[in-house]
Amino acid sequence: MLRLQKFISDSGLTSRRKAEELITSGRVRVNGLVAELGCKVDEQNDVVEVDGKRITLGEKHIYIMLNKPEGYLSSVTDDRGRKTVVELIGLKERIFPVGRLDYDTEGLLLLTNDGEFTYRVTHPKFEITKTYIATLDKRIMWDRIKVLLDGVEIEDYVGTANALHIINENKNQVMITISQGKNRQVRKMFEKTGYTVKKLQRISIGALRLANLKKGEWRELSKKEAEKIFEKNSI
Ligand code: URA
Repeated sequence: MLRLQKFISDSGLTSRRKAEELITSGRVRVNGLVAELGCKVDEQNDVVEVDGKRITLGEKHIYIMLNKPEGYLSSVTDDRGRKTVVELIGLKERIFPVGRLDYDTEGLLLLTNDGEFTYRVTHPKFEITKTYIATLDKRIMWDRIKVLLDGVEIEDYVGTANALHIINENKNQVMITISQGKNRQVRKMFEKTGYTVKKLQRISIGALRLANLKKGEWRELSKKEAEKIFEKNSI
């Protein structure tokens, strides 16, 4: 139950003070009856109208950045009893992973209840870049890098690296950026070019980087922070 003036301000219509004025001037009805200041409403069941128009509480959107550990599914539940990222976070709000990381991949994963945001991040037409650090079973050769940048045929598509940099002296650790998002794409691209990915970590989505979070840690982002994904100069 909520006080009516709070319900009105939480709906985003106006401030709490203005809401009080609306109520005292008789412009607010609850279940068809003119309401009094201070009355309480059941936010699930009562119908609140201002000047004859129904108002409702908008769902509050939440955005979570998680440093996903290996051994977790990117889903809400699992019928085979494996651990999921949603259980790991343990919030009471219903949240969903934004896209997915494999069970054995770690790193940056977002979760939200904002369906529009998820669509803008995951739909292939927006070509949001994702950057990974891949540790390979052996050093990578220059000619293979060219193949990965030119595109590798995988099943029914061509997997292409937008950028690829060697990042260690042994030359078996690379930073790879892709803007497609096919199932196990990075692993498959390396397999097709003769390597096995031993460890895979996502470090950024668009311009949003994995913050200083230990494996399994998460933090809530403001919408503005989450929207960093859509900024230019992502790599
Ligand atoms: N590519 C992969 O192979 N695995 C992931 O989890 C993400 C991208």
